[in-house]
Amino acid sequence: MTEQCKPGTGSGTIGAYELRRATEAAARAAYAWIGRGDKALADDAAVSAMQAGLDSLNLDGRMLVGEGPADEIGMLYHGQRFGSGTAEPAWDLVVDPLEGTSFLAKGMTNAMAVVAMAPHGSLFDPAPARYMEKLAAPPAAKGKIDPQAPVAERLRQLSGALNKPVEDITVYVIEKPRHKALVQAIHAAGARVALYPAGDVAGALMAAIPGSGIDALMGTGGTPEGLLSAMAIRAMGGEFLGRIDPQLATEAAAVQAAGMDLGRWYLLSEMVRTDDVVFCATGITTGLLLDGVERTRESEKTQTLMIGGAAGPRQMLTSWHHRA
Ligand code: FBP
Repeated sequence: MTEQCKPGTGSGTIGAYELRRATEAAARAAYAWIGRGDKALADDAAVSAMQAGLDSLNLDGRMLVGEGPADEIGMLYHGQRFGSGTAEPAWDLVVDPLEGTSFLAKGMTNAMAVVAMAPHGSLFDPAPARYMEKLAAPPAAKGKIDPQAPVAERLRQLSGALNKPVEDITVYVIEKPRHKALVQAIHAAGARVALYPAGDVAGALMAAIPGSGIDALMGTGGTPEGLLSAMAIRAMGGEFLGRIDPQLATEAAAVQAAGMDLGRWYLLSEMVRTDDVVFCATGITTGLLLDGVERTRESEKTQTLMIGGAAGPRQMLTSWHHRA
């Protein structure tokens, strides 16, 4: 029997504990595809398992940001309804069943399954934007960094907020050609760069956790990943700012047609207008934030970060699942 997950004080822990079934299922399904060079099959496995996991919950929700539009995607599509589907949903969901599809197929680090939900109507709807420039930082930096300032100035502001010399600051950046100038500017300012091939949800969350070894995340990555990071960071009290930054011509045209302002940095309070966020991420391949799935003949072990609202507990859950 499952408990009905409802927004509101005290619901967070139950919600996260329930919701983690969907990320654990996706992570266990994707595990079979680590290092096998086939990202499509890995993604399919994670999507089907997450869909089944969400279906098994007594969840009254709607997919705000899923895997794609309803006419292109069979499962976890934008607008998909969970639960009775009759009245307004209680929750809006954002999912990434396989964050790190390509690098999971290459057997690389930081792949995870992620789901977050917030009360219906409390999230920024990024459609049709696919890419977002992001800035994440620890709670002490909240409201103290001007994302429009040059990189060196942003790092000086961060250094002041964290009371830490610029030389000791480490910025997580995903290694992409578009970030060449950003990386040069961070180096020129005297700070360090932690370059990862992919995985900016892990980078953003590490940046928001004081003492994690990562002091900030900068650069452009996926919008769903940005919204997922923003949701977790809102509940953790950290800083997250985002600017729509289209990378494809079709995306740029769609974003323009939707009247989105490309110069505007959205505040965390605009992207996530509630503290009542439920967030779960289960590691698939071991990375900075989470241990990956470990399999023995009898069982599979998973590690899941569960966040149940700003006032609720933040927990790491290790689960041993019997193998069928
Ligand atoms: P995928 O699951 O789509 O491979 O995402 C991995 C990732 O690195 C994200 O963390 C990041 O937001 C995005 O890709 C960046 O997109 P791109 O690789 O297209 O630049």
